[in-house]
Amino acid sequence: MLSANLTPGNPQGIVKWTDAQVRQAMTTGVRPDGRRLVPPMAFDWYRTVRDDDMVALIAYVRTLKLIGH
Ligand code: HEM
Repeated sequence: MLSANLTPGNPQGIVKWTDAQVRQAMTTGVRPDGRRLVPPMAFDWYRTVRDDDMVALIAYVRTLKLIGH
């Protein structure tokens, strides 16, 4: 199991998603295309994260530099 590429190097990834869609994937395990994420992505745990911390987490992820092509 590989984790997803969260950088802009993944053209099908979160670079195309709104913050609300990233939050939905992180907290429910459901991507915008309806596909369900499987563990070890810890969406059951991220559901318990405070709102302001989620905002900060998503803002941080948006700063990741390009990996991949
Ligand atoms: C702040 C930390 C994290 C954030 C923001 C985050 C966010 C995400 C998002 C948005 C996806 C879906 C991306 C996509 O499909 O393109 C994803 C998938 C995934 N994440 Fe995380 N994640 C985090 C931490 C972790 C950790 C700590 C692990 C493992 C120990 C992990 C493992 C995975 C895996 C394996 C997937 C792919 C699951 C699948 O395709 O079914 N993530 N993550």
